[in-house]
Amino acid sequence: MDGTACANTAAAQRLMEGLSNMPGTGVPAARPSAWWQSDDLGEDSRGLVFAGRGVAELVAQHGTPLYVYSAEVIRRRFRELRAALAATGAPARIRYAMKANRFRSVLETVRREGDIGIDACSPGEVALALEVGFAPAEITVTSVMPSNRDLAMYAAAGTHVNLDTFSALTRWAATPGHGRRVGLRIDPEVATGYGTDPRFAYANGKFGFAPTTVPEVARFAAGLGLEIDELHVHVGWGLQEAARDALGNVYGRLAALADRLTSVRVINVGGGLCWRQQREELPLSLATWSALLEHHLAPLRRTIACEPGTYPLASAGLLIAEANTVEPRGGATWLGLDAGQNVNGYAAHYGIPHEIIHVGQPLAPAMVRYNVAGNINEGIDVFARDVMLPEVREGDLLALFPAGAYGSSMASEHCLRPPAREVMIG
Ligand SMILES: Cc1ncc(COP(=O)(O)O)c(C=O)c1O
Repeated sequence: MDGTACANTAAAQRLMEGLSNMPGTGVPAARPSAWWQSDDLGEDSRGLVFAGRGVAELVAQHGTPLYVYSAEVIRRRFRELRAALAATGAPARIRYAMKANRFRSVLETVRREGDIGIDACSPGEVALALEVGFAPAEITVTSVMPSNRDLAMYAAAGTHVNLDTFSALTRWAATPGHGRRVGLRIDPEVATGYGTDPRFAYANGKFGFAPTTVPEVARFAAGLGLEIDELHVHVGWGLQEAARDALGNVYGRLAALADRLTSVRVINVGGGLCWRQQREELPLSLATWSALLEHHLAPLRRTIACEPGTYPLASAGLLIAEANTVEPRGGATWLGLDAGQNVNGYAAHYGIPHEIIHVGQPLAPAMVRYNVAGNINEGIDVFARDVMLPEVREGDLLALFPAGAYGSSMASEHCLRPPAREVMIG
């Protein structure tokens, strides 16, 4: 199931699930199902199966906590993105935002695609992308508050940069070996993402020139001998279908700016496409995204670039942990895992839920209410509260989905807990 279909069929699926649960409707009892099931993730006699591999068997080989990624799912997500961009009729470029996942096998999988570039955000990411075989011309850096050391590294590596302060433009122009062509990151000024929480919506904050200042910035850059070849906007993380009008507004204003700057060859719309984290969500569909790009940006006949990280990776990864503690306390049943916020910070840092799947009996009825806690000495290290699961016993395995993006890449050594192991399967 692709992301578009996934989003568009969610309502129908909820209706069917509701009908089949109603007594006396005459609807035959459906096989148990869950929103997260797909050709890649499901159940057979081995329990949870991911990309054809039994998850319990992978754990027997590699232990827990364990990130498992599927190269085939990554490739499929890129095919879907290519198709959505092709439908706009404009020339297009995908740059994988490697901040989402820099596991070597992931980068090699992206590299083998052949036509995907890299969006990097630090000298370390640029160095790793070069090491994996991406050419400097395939890498663009969207750098936040770069130091002179950062800028010197980007100039020496020969990468393109998108900058968003007068300070960075001035220092870039003074950096030996710098490229003459630079991009400008623009503040979307519209707060939308996974809701309007500033943790996910990047407007009116630390990122980007205000759109009204762009003509002045372009004159300033020209005075430094620089040419603006790209306009860049990254609206936010976790865009939902409800953000359609807000996004159209941003793209419309971006088009107006690009129209006034004839030197601009690339209009870069950043990331923001996502995967469902929970059953009731409706992520922005690729069809909606593509239609917005076609309507607002394709008529300019410039290259449309995007920097997806979450979309190609999220559904391509699972995090597996072992339940080591099941104990009632204070009216709740606490379920402790051998993974914590250092391994995956979605819940603790951002309050973003994951689906929690019982690896041994993925589709068994969810009959028991749990608080699912991590193993880090922090009160915020709780993956879920009041979540209904099949009964869990100590020693059972649980999978968090989708977990391919911003899991391992944001890991820390807090409490000196080691990172999760990572494996790539076909
Ligand atoms: C500048 C920029 N581009 C692209 C991305 C990737 O975004 P996403 O993971 O939503 O695709 C990010 C994420 O923070 C970003 O900051």
